[in-house]
Amino acid sequence: MQHEFSLRAEWATNTDRPHPQRGFTREVTIHADGPGELPGSAAKPFHGDATRWNPEQLLLAALVECHILSYLYVAGEAEIEVEHVSVRGELTLEAGSDGGQISSATLYPEVVVADTMQLARARELHDEAHRQCFIARSVNFPISLEVPHQHQMPQLPQFSNRLGAPIAVLKPRRAKKPSQVSGNEDARLAAIRAERDAAHEDPNASAQETKSAAEQAQKTNAPAEQTSFYDQVGGEPTFRKLVHEFYQQVEADPEFKAMYPEEDLGPAEQRLRLFLIQYWGGPTDYSQLRGHPRLRARHMPFHVDTKARDTWLKFMRNAMDTLDLAPLHYDTMWDYFERAARAMQNQH
Ligand code: HEM
Repeated sequence: MQHEFSLRAEWATNTDRPHPQRGFTREVTIHADGPGELPGSAAKPFHGDATRWNPEQLLLAALVECHILSYLYVAGEAEIEVEHVSVRGELTLEAGSDGGQISSATLYPEVVVADTMQLARARELHDEAHRQCFIARSVNFPISLEVPHQHQMPQLPQFSNRLGAPIAVLKPRRAKKPSQVSGNEDARLAAIRAERDAAHEDPNASAQETKSAAEQAQKTNAPAEQTSFYDQVGGEPTFRKLVHEFYQQVEADPEFKAMYPEEDLGPAEQRLRLFLIQYWGGPTDYSQLRGHPRLRARHMPFHVDTKARDTWLKFMRNAMDTLDLAPLHYDTMWDYFERAARAMQNQH
């Protein structure tokens, strides 16, 4: 099947504004039925008007817009609920005495999804979108796609105020001591942990070996595994305190608490704690207990309006303020909560 596209571009002499360079204005007006007029010009280095669209920008605009539209299509097919897509584009034109041509373009796409557990998959789909984009398939210059890495989070320095010293760069090899949990899912959780520990724990690993491996890595400057955000902020106790402080405030606010289906907030507290631990790179007990987070869907039965969202965020901010987080950890966490809470809102 073929589709036809047409538009018209016009240039006219402009005696009001004679152009100093070779006497002609670079102003072109593009018309298309539907969208109407688009002001065009040559690019600034070619004596154009920087306030109007130049052909290089229009080509790049076509590439990025096409990428976004192709992306929405492939994400829809993959049943990923996308909330925001942005694509920054860069284009290089190589101009010489015998003419010029576009030598390369780079696209930097980003995506925000309703369910943060789908972020890695959502990012992968940019490759497929790029393969499908009509414009990208039609041009003869190379286009690179710079998608953030699967687990890329904002760059964090290797120190934390609360520790006051560089933190360990090796992940502990021994499984963490099981934490105490409350609520009716305790037994299942304990069983999951026992199973996981049996499967993953190296029976020969000892604390001494772990220590000497860390020392060795530091001495030889060998690349060592980076700690997760979860470890950097203090692991389980930090998230336990954060979520507990949050739920103390829920308990004390009858209007907000009315939204919670169970009178006992203990199980809800456990769910949020396990989710956040998993999200920030700690153990994945949440998914083992509750399956795929599908957080937006799970919030649908509740009336989450602007007021509820702001109250939730206020409680969370107060809870964060009880922790001794380094400024960058604080900002990273807060930024996440603000975005996540916006995603959870389902009413005005
Ligand atoms: C925007 C305001 C929000 C409101 C009013 C709200 C309210 C609720 C309510 C009423 C529940 C059911 C309690 C239960 O677990 O039984 C719930 C569950 C949950 N919420 Fe929220 N929430 C909000 C934002 C968030 C955010 C931003 C996150 C994550 C960062 C989150 C994570 C969770 C989790 C993990 C559960 C348990 C899901 C499950 O496994 O069933 N919530 N929330």
